[in-house]
Amino acid sequence: MENIWIIHNSKYGNSEKLSNDIAAKLKDKFNVKVGSIKTLNPEEIARDNPVALIIGARIIAFNTERKIAKFIKKLSAYFEKPIPKIATFYTHTLSWTEKFSRGMNKALEKSTCIGNVCPELLEVRMQSPKGPAAEDQDEKVQKYIKKLIEFFEE
Ligand SMILES: Cc1cc2nc3c(=O)[nH]c(=O)nc-3n(C[C@H](O)[C@H](O)[C@H](O)COP(=O)(O)O)c2cc1C
Repeated sequence: MENIWIIHNSKYGNSEKLSNDIAAKLKDKFNVKVGSIKTLNPEEIARDNPVALIIGARIIAFNTERKIAKFIKKLSAYFEKPIPKIATFYTHTLSWTEKFSRGMNKALEKSTCIGNVCPELLEVRMQSPKGPAAEDQDEKVQKYIKKLIEFFEE
């Protein structure tokens, strides 16, 4: 099976939980690993030669949390060729606005390890900073996962 990595920099566990939920749904078709950038060495990702990278980011001060954006730029040094498929998701508490993803979009544009980015993104609103997700969010999570599988199998 081909390898997929899901990375996050979760503090309260929301992005980590979502990473694990997505991983559980992909595991019949792919060999999926989940890791926090707090402990993950970029070499571990590069060694697996992943066909896809899923990046989970939390929103802090109306923008993508900065360390995950930095990590993506750093990751480029470990790849000779771009990772073929890239997908993103976000966890947040306020009403979603495109502005929240601008830090991520910049990092993706600047990083040579970034291949084809899935046009579909997932944003999951939390009831409070420590979660859980608002009750109406699950349907779009499931739709996103279906889209992701299609995107990865294209
Ligand atoms: C200091 C701080 C600032 C935040 N700023 C925003 C914000 O600007 N917009 C928003 O929607 N959520 C904001 N949040 C909520 C977080 O994005 C949300 O709790 C997220 O799910 C945390 O992810 P984690 O559980 O993976 O650490 C903020 C949370 C904290 C603690």
